[in-house]
Amino acid sequence: MSSPLDWIPDELTRLREQSLYRESRNVTALGNGRCEIAGQILIDFGSNDYLNLATSNALKEAGTVAIQKQGLGARASALITGRHPEYQRLCEALSEFEKTDDVILFPTGYMANVGTISALVDSEDAVFCDRLNHASLVDGCRLSRAKFRVYPHRDLTVLNRELEKASDVRRKLIVTDGLFSMDGDLAPLPELWELSQKHDAMLLVDEAHATGVLGEHGRGSVEHFDLEDQPIIRVGTLSKAIGCLGGFVTGSQDFIDYLRNKAGTQIYSTGLPAVICAAASAAIEQIITNPQQRITSQSLSDLLRAELTAQNIDYAAGSCGPIVPVILNDAALALSVSDKLQEAGFFVPAIRPPTVPAETSRLRITISTSHTEEDLRSLVSQLRGML
Ligand SMILES: Cc1ncc(COP(=O)(O)O)c(C=O)c1O
Repeated sequence: MSSPLDWIPDELTRLREQSLYRESRNVTALGNGRCEIAGQILIDFGSNDYLNLATSNALKEAGTVAIQKQGLGARASALITGRHPEYQRLCEALSEFEKTDDVILFPTGYMANVGTISALVDSEDAVFCDRLNHASLVDGCRLSRAKFRVYPHRDLTVLNRELEKASDVRRKLIVTDGLFSMDGDLAPLPELWELSQKHDAMLLVDEAHATGVLGEHGRGSVEHFDLEDQPIIRVGTLSKAIGCLGGFVTGSQDFIDYLRNKAGTQIYSTGLPAVICAAASAAIEQIITNPQQRITSQSLSDLLRAELTAQNIDYAAGSCGPIVPVILNDAALALSVSDKLQEAGFFVPAIRPPTVPAETSRLRITISTSHTEEDLRSLVSQLRGML
């Protein structure tokens, strides 16, 4: 008997033939830049745990105490029962760290982007999105129903033109990754801020990969560019350098109150549990008290780039933080090099379309402060033999 889902096997075959099928694997984080996959211990160049906090004792202990006191689920959304004492403490810790009036928390960074963008613009408005922005920004733009304009990566001339063309809309919003997730380069924030002022547009910066890593105090790309006094909307995640789960947005009291009333992804979803909030507060404490970690992250990342250059291995132009992509273009090639690296003891994921544009498949190497210089050198030496 035929089923309305009969088309799915053909679709899976097509994905496999194009080397675009995604295999899920079980990974155990071991800390210290190592993970275990299928019984093999690998040097882990695949996580976004840039400061090695996810498995740290400080976070485990804070989470354990919170579970003992408050149990697990938050039982309802933040506006109902979800604003428990650890939630409140995390809001205060993040506001203090980010030097902002208040923050709003979301269950994930993805939901922070979707909820914030769709609270700010709708069908009367226009949103302007860098072509290499993360999928959560793109989905937020689409769901908002605002006119959706995509500009080529970091192309201020096209952006300026598109902003000029949109002079008749009610509101304009420019959205950008601060540190691009798959390319590791920075958005031109001073210029974007200037353009936003010229065209009376709002500017939203997604600090997902920059929080904890960039800026003198680890507050991200807006701090890095010394733009913190400007009313730029900053979205962050608790899931990367902070080592937990969740998203947040910073801003003035009115702005955060507005999002609390309008951002559907936080109104209609259960609040973050105490265990996560307590661990994230502990991570922020670590980021504040351990500035050396940011220096280590930068120097290891720079060392990796220098080693790749010395071995004539190209990495993405502009990569400047802990994300170092080696672009191989072909999806099958990226998969096969990733597999060979795994056999040799290194976990380096292959990133393929639609996460990145067609013909730009890559190995995405991410550096954690727990890597040793020797880890980096041995990765580069293996890679040289495979390309
Ligand atoms: C730039 C960027 N923004 C947002 C997100 C979503 O964050 P989360 O994993 O916390 O949902 C990611 C995650 O990969 C990301 O890379």
